[in-house]
Amino acid sequence: MIKVLHVVGARPNFMKVAPVMRALAAHPGRFLQRLVHTGQHYEEAMSQVFFDELEIAPPDENLEVGSGSHAGQTAQIMIRFEPVLKGFAPDWVMVVGDVNSTMACTLVAAKLGVRVAHVEAGLRSFDRTMPEEINRLVTDALADLLLTPSSDADENLRREGISPDRIRQVGNVMIDTLCRNLEKARARLVHRRLGVEPRRFIYVTLHRPSNVDGRESLSAIVDCLRDMAKGLPVVFPVHPRTRQRLVDFGLLGALESQPGMKLIVPVGYLDSIGLADQASCVLTDSGGLQEETTFLQVPCLTLRPNTERPITISQGSNRLTTLGTLRADLEAAIRRRESREQLPCPPLWDGRSAERIADVLLER
Ligand code: UD1
Repeated sequence: MIKVLHVVGARPNFMKVAPVMRALAAHPGRFLQRLVHTGQHYEEAMSQVFFDELEIAPPDENLEVGSGSHAGQTAQIMIRFEPVLKGFAPDWVMVVGDVNSTMACTLVAAKLGVRVAHVEAGLRSFDRTMPEEINRLVTDALADLLLTPSSDADENLRREGISPDRIRQVGNVMIDTLCRNLEKARARLVHRRLGVEPRRFIYVTLHRPSNVDGRESLSAIVDCLRDMAKGLPVVFPVHPRTRQRLVDFGLLGALESQPGMKLIVPVGYLDSIGLADQASCVLTDSGGLQEETTFLQVPCLTLRPNTERPITISQGSNRLTTLGTLRADLEAAIRRRESREQLPCPPLWDGRSAERIADVLLER
């Protein structure tokens, strides 16, 4: 039996661990799996709803670290994860993505000499002001097995001097989850519940510190969204960080009172996919949505100066945008949607990435 300890902490982790745990469970008697939730995200809408919708078994341990400064949160995760790791003594710790929980648990395992496998390894924005970039660099430097979604990721790792035998390209596990749940998501008709027409609304998600933590940038975003809502309805589920900043800077009222603006609480996985699938276009600073829209062939504008997922631009429907060019970029995106531009999907984004991960673990 290969003992595997999976780690999740924040919203974007849940859709990545679900297919991996399922793929390992499909080899009866070969894997003994446990799941640790660090509790980095703890609200129902940021955590439990994903366990329910994606049919993830309840975590064996919840470290309940909650929010804090980067150092505080990372340190708490490390302190609370260490005894759990020692207790289970796994052959592998499996971490996903690039959140603080990913890096913190990797550090603990590496120090105890436990092998780490990193799912979604090798992505780089080359922007160290982004907390996730630090998490990616540390995690990949320490992990023993780097499971990558695409060739650009392999290339980044090789450039950092990582030996090729640590790198295995398996494809994108998020797309496994998307393939499995797309029909279920469509059947929920989330746009109808929100009172918007299919292909006649913009789906917006914004939560990056670089966009929402400064008064100037957030207020420019609010002006821009209000302007956009005059043309097409805007559906905007508001992340807790963003809501807090809107309140802090006194901007929430202006946004809420704008006709055409549908500010809602954070949505679960199925409704997020349903919204992305039916939108005229998506405006986001999330990593996952850049990939999901590429698979769905829905135009996506990413409000960031860079992306760690360049394949979504070179082979997908994503474009970078700025507040200065947003209006023109949106018009172009909506035209792209109307022309039903067809693009090929990146290689190995085929719904079987987690099966390949199981095979790699069995081989080792
Ligand atoms: C984290 C990840 C980010 C990911 C995002 C998705 C890091 C460094 N960042 O950012 O990569 O894209 O999750 O959501 O790991 N809060 C709540 N309820 C919750 C969770 C958070 O109210 O359940 C609020 C708290 O005020 C907290 C703030 O959101 O201080 C930020 O949470 P945190 O986990 O530190 O980072 P995110 O911005 O969510």
